[in-house]
Amino acid sequence: MKQQPGPFHDFEHAGWENVAEEYDRRFGELTAQSIGPLLDAVGAAAGVQLLDVACGPGYLAAAASRRSSAVVGVDFSSAMVAQATRMHPGLDFRLGNAEKLDLPGHSFDAVVMNFGMLHLARPESAVAEAFRVLRPGGRYAFTVWDVPERAVGFGIILQSIQMHGSMEVGLPTGPPFFRFSDPEESKRTLTAAGFVNAQTLQVPQVWRIESGEDLLTTFRTAAVRTAALLNHQTPAALKRIREEVIARAEKFRRGNAIDLPMPAVLASALRPAT
Ligand SMILES: C[S@@+](CC[C@H](N)C(=O)[O-])C[C@H]1O[C@@H](n2cnc3c(N)ncnc32)[C@H](O)[C@@H]1O
Repeated sequence: MKQQPGPFHDFEHAGWENVAEEYDRRFGELTAQSIGPLLDAVGAAAGVQLLDVACGPGYLAAAASRRSSAVVGVDFSSAMVAQATRMHPGLDFRLGNAEKLDLPGHSFDAVVMNFGMLHLARPESAVAEAFRVLRPGGRYAFTVWDVPERAVGFGIILQSIQMHGSMEVGLPTGPPFFRFSDPEESKRTLTAAGFVNAQTLQVPQVWRIESGEDLLTTFRTAAVRTAALLNHQTPAALKRIREEVIARAEKFRRGNAIDLPMPAVLASALRPAT
């Protein structure tokens, strides 16, 4: 599929083509924790036509379908679309770019994006596209990770890199990862696109992992930007980062498991009725 040009977009696209199965195995239980609040925010119910943008393995689309909404899932990674189709046969998953949707205007009652925004080269374009494909009176909602001080899994990894490695490893420049973790920035962006009643809430989530090693492996094998950041460290730096991650993660051990707080920020808004 021809993607919009741009080094960051292409970097993200190539990355997501390679991690679909591992993402499902390692992140699925975590990102699924936001699905209920997202579906509630857009009023997903019987008869609602819902678009799941950056759908990944299709968890949210499947949950909306269980609420009897009519769903379409769109993702720019063919590996993710294949994964979603394998996991949820019978649902409508398509290749597509969040920033330029190949869908007619005014065709959905609800548009959602679970942890997609922070991977986009042009997030404003995705918000504008959500507005365009929504019917007047339709609802939009997205989630992003809370700041690393509160989304502890990110905090542990990023602080360990800052202490023992380098944040400058020559990756294509993308928008700030935690831009939309700021509720005011999310509301401002939604309002600038024409949405009204923009609001945010924090979704408390807990990530159960086995060990710090498990956390590091997850970020190295099932993510894109953070994976590249880790995998571009020198072997010596990576060794020190690993030890730091393990020590920091142990502080959250509860018996056999480690429970990391990983809250999300959920932003939602309404396309005005007229
Ligand atoms: C962190 S995963 C989230 C997947 C799923 N929504 C979930 O909640 O687990 C990010 C997803 O965004 C997709 N993605 C990133 N940029 C995209 C774009 N420009 N258009 C469509 N999908 C995109 C990736 O392929 C990946 O499946």
